[in-house]
Amino acid sequence: MTERILITGGAGFIGSNLAATLIKRPNTDVVIADDFSSGDWRNLIHVDCEVRAADCDDFDLLESIAAGEFTAVMHQAAITDTTVMDQRLMVEVNTNAFASILEASAKSGIRVIYASSAGTYGNSAAPNRVGVGEEPENIYGFSKLAMDRVAARWYEKHPAPIVGLRYFNVYGPGEHHKNECEGNKTASMILQMYQRAKAGKQLRLFKHGEQMRDFVYIRDVIAANLAALEAPRSGVCNVGSGKARSFNDIVENLGKQLGQSFDVDYIDNPFTFYQMHTEADLSESKAIMGWEPSWSLEKGVEDYVRLLESGHRGPAETA
Ligand SMILES: NC(=O)c1ccc[n+]([C@@H]2O[C@H](COP(=O)([O-])OP(=O)(O)OC[C@H]3O[C@@H](n4cnc5c(N)ncnc54)[C@H](O)[C@@H]3O)[C@@H](O)[C@H]2O)c1
Repeated sequence: MTERILITGGAGFIGSNLAATLIKRPNTDVVIADDFSSGDWRNLIHVDCEVRAADCDDFDLLESIAAGEFTAVMHQAAITDTTVMDQRLMVEVNTNAFASILEASAKSGIRVIYASSAGTYGNSAAPNRVGVGEEPENIYGFSKLAMDRVAARWYEKHPAPIVGLRYFNVYGPGEHHKNECEGNKTASMILQMYQRAKAGKQLRLFKHGEQMRDFVYIRDVIAANLAALEAPRSGVCNVGSGKARSFNDIVENLGKQLGQSFDVDYIDNPFTFYQMHTEADLSESKAIMGWEPSWSLEKGVEDYVRLLESGHRGPAETA
């Protein structure tokens, strides 16, 4: 049977990496629906699939889902700028649209994988475990928690599994556009630091670089999505490396790969809300999807810098 997988937000960082991987599978067609609000067509230059410019809750798209045109939906589309404060807009785009996708997919009985976020945990104590300390500190994190709650209401009546993936801090090829938009730069700290270093600028960290985050490499995120496509049941799973690492660690690893040692400028943190320590507990991810990460920060940064140094900027699988 030919799989026909719909990826919403497929012009974005994670969606384009997913598409680039899935088109290599035998008997698999990929259709991307993206409104191009934050994604980048350049991510798709070497990804041979059908592209539709559409809102993810576009009426015709929902009709196609309900009519059985697809065998699975992988929903990545969202407002991804976590500094957007418009509450109604965030919930409309992130949560309402997802609810409509679930309703449509229930009609055709197809599996739904969707992007949740570590933002659902806010600043609660690490390690972050699904079902514990879900106290988002901004409207973005709340909109994702609301998605998980909508999904849970469908678990019993949806004919196929619904798997939510709470991504932690994802880094890797395909995220350049996140540093090129007007205003807020949302690319990973690894790309931001790499670009400053290459421009000969002094690296800056918020005082004193000891903030801890769970940085997860894009290749692990894609592997988690593939595992979710096979998961036997519904649920929410963390997608992280399982290890918190400091911002100073990032600088050190980057220095190692670039053969440089950096004199960091430690500046005051202007944000009132800032996650100080995230770390994914992976017990649900193993239990539901049988997935575990395989890229350490050291290996991930090495692979990423190798691709960046070769001038590659698209999804990993197109290198
Ligand atoms: N990158 C991370 O570290 C991270 C962490 C946690 C969660 N996430 C989630 O993962 C998903 C993918 O994020 P990303 O990093 O690839 O971001 P991205 O901004 O690169 O990709 C999001 C894509 O969705 C599209 N989009 C936005 N609103 C849309 C709409 N209404 N209809 C159709 N398309 C729309 C954008 O144009 C973009 O191509 C998002 O749901 C995000 O919230 C990402």
